[in-house]
Amino acid sequence: MTIFGTPLSAHATKVMLLGSGELGKEVLIALQRLGVETIAVDRYDNAPGQQVAHHARTVTMSDPAQLKALIEREKPDLVVPEIEAIATGVLEELEAAGSVRVIPTARAARLTMDREGIRRLAAEALGLPTSPYVFCDSLEELQAAIDEKIGYPCIVKPVMSSSGKGQSRIAGAGDVQAAWDYALAGGRVQHGRVIVEGFIDFDYEITLLTVRAVSSKESAEGAVETHFCEPIGHFQVGGDYVESWQPHPMQALALQKSRDIARAVTDNLGGQGVFGVELFVKGDDVWFSEVSPRPHDTGMVTMCTQWQNEFELHARAILGLPVNTALKSPGASAVIYGGVDADGIVFDGVADALRVPNTDIRLFGKPASFVKRRMGVALAFDADVEVARTNAKLAASKVKPRVA
Ligand SMILES: Nc1ncnc2c1ncn2[C@@H]1O[C@H](COP(=O)(O)OP(=O)(O)OP(=O)(O)O)[C@@H](O)[C@H]1O
Ligand SMILES: [Mg+2]
Repeated sequence: MTIFGTPLSAHATKVMLLGSGELGKEVLIALQRLGVETIAVDRYDNAPGQQVAHHARTVTMSDPAQLKALIEREKPDLVVPEIEAIATGVLEELEAAGSVRVIPTARAARLTMDREGIRRLAAEALGLPTSPYVFCDSLEELQAAIDEKIGYPCIVKPVMSSSGKGQSRIAGAGDVQAAWDYALAGGRVQHGRVIVEGFIDFDYEITLLTVRAVSSKESAEGAVETHFCEPIGHFQVGGDYVESWQPHPMQALALQKSRDIARAVTDNLGGQGVFGVELFVKGDDVWFSEVSPRPHDTGMVTMCTQWQNEFELHARAILGLPVNTALKSPGASAVIYGGVDADGIVFDGVADALRVPNTDIRLFGKPASFVKRRMGVALAFDADVEVARTNAKLAASKVKPRVA
């Protein structure tokens, strides 16, 4: 039985978010609504989540000493990673010592921190279908992997990166050097390890939001059950999501295989919370791609499609509360990019965007804009998911970020 305290009192229930971007901001808001005391951590000041939390802390979360000192000082009940670049060894150490609970588990944070841990778990330990792959530490190894195993076309990604950074598609031998150089420049740490994957010519890709939460049946108190949201379709450009919609229509067999894969991965990772399981689908074939042990960017669509959006589901699940993953309405999301490199930008056209029927927008409040930085999202619902997609894109296009 979870006990809820009063924020800013001796009996507060305290949750620390490691990473306070747009996804963390929504988790923090959901936690605030349940009377939780929140600590938003990021590597820079005034990150979106820091603007809504009780406490804002700025530290280098990939530095073990800084991270450990912060957690020991603040003594949160729960530590909730929202990004991958975290000193996960510290989380494992503190979890093992029983000083803190990590969401979903410290091991899950470590395994999903880079592409190697989770890929080897899914493909080699669990035997799930994935693209063929090889890990390489040099241009020579990359070339040999392509020649001997992977073939063309293929995809090269730094093992430590997200949102498509450093990722490129190799069509033929002439692209290999450029893909290697690009991966080295785009990786999060400069040790130059990449994964090369065979290209999957999928019909579509989905995120299957999977929630591990206590049972809603009173008789099963304490037991963790797996709940699935409706599949989210999405469209990526250069490895970065630009549009998502829910539900994505699926044949029964492909949906069943998707759920089986999601269950296998999340059962193994364990703990409680939302997981974003990324899958490629072609006909009845389904491949596991990767998983976030936390809400997923493409899942922002759930802010207009579910009774409990993915952030509310995460907040409930991690606090030991039952969840409801039911769809409220079909809908869609479309990303609003910065379009300019500048600090403190302004947005024209917000009212015009909201004149598009059944739409809403979120502006994340990021202090600095980059041309390709996600600064907001437009949401639309409609009984017809295609109408929702059109309206979300239209609303997003009406918001015009510019230099102040
Ligand atoms: N083997 C593959 N075959 C075909 N397409 C792929 C493959 N790997 C990645 N992609 C495409 O690139 C996108 C991004 O890849 P991936 O999810 O691995 O990178 P990421 O940097 O972790 O992205 P994000 O952080 O946005 O999830 C995928 O959603 C898919 O559209
Ligand atoms: Mg991805």
